Amino acid sequence: MVMVMGMADQAPVITFELVTLFPELFDNVLGTSLLGRAVAAGIIGVERTNQRDFATDRHRSVDDTPCGGGPGMILSVPPLAAALDDIATRRGPAHKVLLSPRGKLLDQTHVRRLAAMPRIVLVCGRYEGFDERVSGLCDEELSIGDYVLAGGELAAAVVIETVARLIPGVLGSGLSTADESFSHGRLEYPQFTRPVDFRGHVVPSILLSGDHAAIDCWRRRQAFHRTMVSRPDLMARYPPTDEERVWMRDDAELASPDVADAADADGTPGGRRS
Ligand SMILES: C[S@@+](CC[C@H](N)C(=O)[O-])C[C@H]1O[C@@H](n2cnc3c(N)ncnc32)[C@H](O)[C@@H]1O
Repeated sequence: MVMVMGMADQAPVITFELVTLFPELFDNVLGTSLLGRAVAAGIIGVERTNQRDFATDRHRSVDDTPCGGGPGMILSVPPLAAALDDIATRRGPAHKVLLSPRGKLLDQTHVRRLAAMPRIVLVCGRYEGFDERVSGLCDEELSIGDYVLAGGELAAAVVIETVARLIPGVLGSGLSTADESFSHGRLEYPQFTRPVDFRGHVVPSILLSGDHAAIDCWRRRQAFHRTMVSRPDLMARYPPTDEERVWMRDDAELASPDVADAADADGTPGGRRS
């Protein structure tokens, strides 16, 4: 049985084909908030296939014991291959992603690449994982982090949500993803809203100044500092711009003991009012 979600009087911009033993696990994530609206509007298409429907024995088996012995059960190739063949026959070719802890680590670069594709199959594992030959049926393997989930469904949901956010029309404003974390190899700058003073922690006055050029510059600088402190690995992958080099030089000068006391307290986000 193949289940279809979404209102499809227009072709979706992107369609996710889920191959999973637990299609119902996606009900909430695909029916709520941003994704729920995008699916209902037909911008995002979602189709769900359960490989158990392609098992050929009377027990509808999808797994078996590992060859050579060992704990647990392994997802076998034939039902998965038949499910993937069925998807290709019914709806045409698609990019096939196997969710796996040994895959390449999903990051915003992968997300952007996937967002340019019209159809993505997400193959979700369970139990002790897949027969190695399932790998050969897919175009790539992706992991969402260096930890082990019980199944690929939550990983697939992460892929869907991160990719869907980049599809035009899914977020309220097309600009919403432009300055956020990882869009330029930097974390996002600190954000504040009212009240201006919360238990003595005050919004930096520059954000209330109305000087948009100065605010933009402050935000870029904060994003740079935050990245240097929290994610030095990003700094190595996305080297400092000319502007950032100037800030680094200024910071080095400020850090020298004779000028440190003169540092502007406003440079500290959410600084405490004395
Ligand atoms: C319990 S895990 C199998 C782990 C496998 N025995 C291993 O040691 O690598 C079952 C399934 O969950 C999914 N999964 C687990 N962790 C994941 C991760 N970090 N990223 C993506 N998928 C993951 C995969 O589809 C995997 O086949």
